[in-house]
Amino acid sequence: MRAEHVPPLLALAGVTVDHGALRAVHGIDLALHEGEVVSLIGANGAGKSTTLAAIAGVLPVADGEIRYAGEAIHLLPTHQRVRRGLALVPEGRGLFARLTVAENLRLGAYTRDNPQAVAEDLERVLALLPRIRERLHQQAGTLSGGEQQMLAIGRALLARPRLLLLDEPSMGLAPRLVDALFDTIATIAREGVSILLVEQNAALALELSQRAYVMANGLITLSGTAAELRDDPAVRHAYLGEV
Ligand SMILES: Nc1ncnc2c1ncn2[C@@H]1O[C@H](COP(=O)(O)OP(=O)(O)OP(=O)(O)O)[C@@H](O)[C@H]1O
Ligand SMILES: [Mg+2]
Repeated sequence: MRAEHVPPLLALAGVTVDHGALRAVHGIDLALHEGEVVSLIGANGAGKSTTLAAIAGVLPVADGEIRYAGEAIHLLPTHQRVRRGLALVPEGRGLFARLTVAENLRLGAYTRDNPQAVAEDLERVLALLPRIRERLHQQAGTLSGGEQQMLAIGRALLARPRLLLLDEPSMGLAPRLVDALFDTIATIAREGVSILLVEQNAALALELSQRAYVMANGLITLSGTAAELRDDPAVRHAYLGEV
């Protein structure tokens, strides 16, 4: 159990994010401690992906602060955040379809300069994702949806993340593949990687997480332990498909 005085690994304070003239995220606070899996759930258009993009540095913050590992990072370019151990697996996976699986994996290590360590991590990632090892020389675009999601996660792991930001990993996958994928994500978490998970499948997300935040219309409307949220009538009705 963590000591209460340990500062969070990730802390958002009053974070506001715009898409041009549209304000998508309105001054949210969010914290994640080292070793935690925290979910961000909410309806379509709530601002979940926008929040992850701001943490990763893909979108600028209009106001507020993002602290990570004791440092304000919201003004750093993306690659410097990756170097510090923040890796995003974006919605839609963001693979290079015409590059091979191996080339996509290598791109995950683009900020790293120790080839020996990268080679060791590649072995570890391929041990975790055996289906990917069998397809190293295939074009990424020819993989199945489930394999592509595994590859996207594998690529992010090659950045040697301390915090993995996962945006809708189960999207478009058959239930059997979703189970396998979430087993893999649970293994990654057990190995000590902290995870901020955005997931449409709230039941699954709450199963894997210690805590969660609910987002609606660019605001955090509710937060608590996974058990608290699972028992919350509003969450049950709106996100767990119960009446
Ligand atoms: N590139 C963009 N340009 C303009 N508006 C955008 C852009 N991306 C998102 N938005 C808007 O910002 C708001 C938040 O979108 P966001 O993608 O963060 O939601 P989300 O919670 O991830 O939804 P979903 O569950 O559908 O993925 C929405 O109103 C959306 O229409
Ligand atoms: Mg989204």
